[in-house]
Amino acid sequence: MSNQDLATGDIVEYLRAHRHMSLLRFITCGSVDDGKSTLIGRLLYEAKSLFEDQLAALEADSRKVGTQGDDLDFALLVDGLSAEREQGITIDVAYRFFATEKRKFIVADTPGHEQYTRNMVTGASNADLAVILIDARQGVLTQTRRHSFLVSLLGIRQLVVAVNKMDLVEFSQARFDAIVADYRAFAERIGIAEFTAIPVSALRGDNVTMRSAAMPWYTGASLLEHLEAVEVSRLDAGDSALRIPVQWVNRPNQDFRGFAGTVVSGEVTVGDRLRVQPSGRESTVRRIMTHDGDLPRAVAGQAITVVLEDEVDVSRGDVLSRADAPAEVADQFETTIVWMHDEPLLPGRPYLLKLGAKTVSASITDIKYKIQINTLEHLAAKSLALNEIAVCNVSLDRPIAFDPYHVNRDTGGFILIDRIENHTLGAGLIHFALRRAHNIHVQPVDVNKEARALQKAQRPCVIWFTGLSGAGKSTLANGLERHLHAAGRHTYLLDGDNVRHGLNRDLGFTEADRVENIRRVAEVAKLMVDAGLIVITAFISPFRAERHLAREMLAEGEFIEVFVDVPLAVAEARDPKGLYRKARRGELANFTGIDSPYEPPEAPEVIVRTDAGSAEENLASLVERLRALGIG
Ligand code: ADX
Repeated sequence: MSNQDLATGDIVEYLRAHRHMSLLRFITCGSVDDGKSTLIGRLLYEAKSLFEDQLAALEADSRKVGTQGDDLDFALLVDGLSAEREQGITIDVAYRFFATEKRKFIVADTPGHEQYTRNMVTGASNADLAVILIDARQGVLTQTRRHSFLVSLLGIRQLVVAVNKMDLVEFSQARFDAIVADYRAFAERIGIAEFTAIPVSALRGDNVTMRSAAMPWYTGASLLEHLEAVEVSRLDAGDSALRIPVQWVNRPNQDFRGFAGTVVSGEVTVGDRLRVQPSGRESTVRRIMTHDGDLPRAVAGQAITVVLEDEVDVSRGDVLSRADAPAEVADQFETTIVWMHDEPLLPGRPYLLKLGAKTVSASITDIKYKIQINTLEHLAAKSLALNEIAVCNVSLDRPIAFDPYHVNRDTGGFILIDRIENHTLGAGLIHFALRRAHNIHVQPVDVNKEARALQKAQRPCVIWFTGLSGAGKSTLANGLERHLHAAGRHTYLLDGDNVRHGLNRDLGFTEADRVENIRRVAEVAKLMVDAGLIVITAFISPFRAERHLAREMLAEGEFIEVFVDVPLAVAEARDPKGLYRKARRGELANFTGIDSPYEPPEAPEVIVRTDAGSAEENLASLVERLRALGIG
């Protein structure tokens, strides 16, 4: 196909016709002023100056194509994008397309600012090669190290270090050699054994597509020559084990159900014995259906619908593997997490974890250490800030099928999502399942919650008070317990000040400690509900996420949120313990309402305004509201 055809056809046709030509996906990364855009511009300009005009149109088209998913190359490319789109956030990665006589290219251009690490991760997660740009005047920077670390972590094996702006250092070989030596010292420590270093001037075009006469001391290939020739070996190549994350279950016909998804690795043939994971049920492939009719066999990259011989239970997010080479199944892992949000990662806080087509509830049980990117030191951490990278243990609310990331990028990489706002918060890679996950089982007991509740002739539940310090939670909670006790109920009151003297005496008032405080209280309350009690809790519990976690731990109707609502000014005027005054004087840090936030409930079962009536009236109206809810 000539460029003339390209001008009249669209990118799909073009790529189809060029299927025999290999595709190289690469990413460019560097700091803000390293000259990435100039370099990409130069590559595009010189590689195919003829289709400059078409580029914008091609990109627009390719995005449309992606939704049809009928082209392998683009399906893969767009996968990453649509995952982000589903999350409703815009990740600023510009994909550009160009081709030479030898190869076609997709380059992800990601902004270099620190806060855009997530863009880089998005761009890198489906790249074969990374070009790390270094400004010859600046040398190796923190951002260079961070990007190299991420590139290595994400499993990109091909690395080009382009030392740019050589014209500004008089094309000095000594300068180039010094930067390369500096880079090599760092690269070796993060397991990058090999990289190709090229001295370039993106602005002038030296060594970008053609070798530069200004640097006769450099005898290697130009950047484009290297990109054209480099051997690409993808981790998820077709020879790895079969994995099909099921995107949806459909019924193409009255008689049978089909399981639709993309083969992310390996191949599947009619007659193969498959295992559905995590359930472990097995059946044999009866048909492999596609939009263009049935296939005897499908390979990595193809979108198919699998029909099995038996009616087995398969749901969205399950993984189909060959029975003789299944994925692993577990609910606790050691992982590396790259945090990408302004709000810190807090152990114990509930997040959503999305791996393949599966979304589950997750929390970080332990930050083992974070990695100081310049020195590669391991540091202790109680939380993770934007751009920080750490090795963490993660616990899920149910088992999922997975592979270690180094075995399979698709079934070993995940993102963490905010439960309420639905933002992407971080990305993670699974190292391995924690063995303890296999060894701890739920012990069935004969006397259960129902039996215990029946004996006490009551409906166990948690009445969860939340509100500012001084709002009146403890007073109300205490009054409520007296009332219930007098009525012959079996109760227990968990109060912030008391629990913090015992079980939670190791915790303070940082965000991380408050999350852990509430997590433990929620676990204890759940045990007490299991014991058949009516549990009353009185904690500020300032964060929605943890109150939500507590609610989720219990059955429908067992969690009653009581918002003790007073204006801050009223609580502050009361100041029963003198703490507001202390906080205002700057003698008490992280005080709720002053320099630590309180997130009011959005839909509490009960709201009590303690600045309105008397204490007795407030208690009476609370009791009445609870009775209406069937509690008491
Ligand atoms: S929570 O935020 O983690 O839910 P919790 O209810 O356990 O807090 O403890 C709050 C009580 O601790 C307050 O009533 C107050 O007496 C005391 N306290 C001490 N320091 C602080 C602080 N920085 N912020 C809020 N309360 C504090």
